[in-house]
Amino acid sequence: MTDPNIKVREHYSAAGLTDRIKTAVATIAPGSQPLTVAQLAPLDQFHTRGILATGELAAAARLDPSTRVLDLGCGLGGPARYLAETFGCKVTGIDLSPSFIDAATYLTARCGLSDRVTFQVGDALNPPFDDASFDVVFLQHVAMNVEDRTTLYAQVRRILAPGGRLAIYDLVLRDGDIVYPTPWARDASASFLLSESQTRTTLEEVGYKAVFWRDDTQVARDWFKTVMGAQPQSGLNLGLVMGPDFPIMTGNLARNLREKRLGVLSAVLTRD
Ligand SMILES: C[S@@+](CC[C@H](N)C(=O)[O-])C[C@H]1O[C@@H](n2cnc3c(N)ncnc32)[C@H](O)[C@@H]1O
Repeated sequence: MTDPNIKVREHYSAAGLTDRIKTAVATIAPGSQPLTVAQLAPLDQFHTRGILATGELAAAARLDPSTRVLDLGCGLGGPARYLAETFGCKVTGIDLSPSFIDAATYLTARCGLSDRVTFQVGDALNPPFDDASFDVVFLQHVAMNVEDRTTLYAQVRRILAPGGRLAIYDLVLRDGDIVYPTPWARDASASFLLSESQTRTTLEEVGYKAVFWRDDTQVARDWFKTVMGAQPQSGLNLGLVMGPDFPIMTGNLARNLREKRLGVLSAVLTRD
């Protein structure tokens, strides 16, 4: 059987990533000096509006120190570290990309958070956890890489405890063809966007009820305008992860939002 994630794995494979990161962070924290979640945010919050969006979604998902959190498609682990540091909770992250998991584990140790934040390689379509293991599952800018949304949302529902919450932050299809390459796919073969209403219908059919649903498109457009007008960042940014084309990918994301081809959705849903 063909691996449904083959193109996605390829897109996010980043050979030698942890070594590149070690070199880059040495400029701000030489040797084994501790790093902070805030320092790493330009590098490790791999979604529109970065740490600002993570903070807003976390507030809507109502976390506290006892909340068992899973970050599905955790990337470099920035959101997981932010949640553990801000709310004092334990966070598990899984991701398809072994190089991202290796980097996430390294950065978490450098932030002194390894007792509360752990990572493993895993597929969101088959998460390696028992039923009802988590109170909150985060899914930020991941679903657009997953073709089988019904299985994705059903698997999340399986591992959520009764009363548990799914917190999503998604790019959604609006009108017209998407301009590639984008940060999540070089072309349409690894991109599985749904519209906002298709997303909601799929979630409801699987057994979720929305308790928070917000269109963040305009705020994302405004954010890109500010970011793109700003001075170039230091070496600690997602170009280090995704390569020299990353500014083109980000530029296309901003263009797709501006030209109303894409929207941005934040939501929290409970499993019934
Ligand atoms: C745009 S990044 C977002 C990373 C992280 N959620 C964040 O916001 O910083 C998308 C991530 O989803 C992961 N991903 C895509 N499909 C996945 C799947 N089926 N299972 C696990 N991870 C997946 C990718 O490897 C990548 O790390």
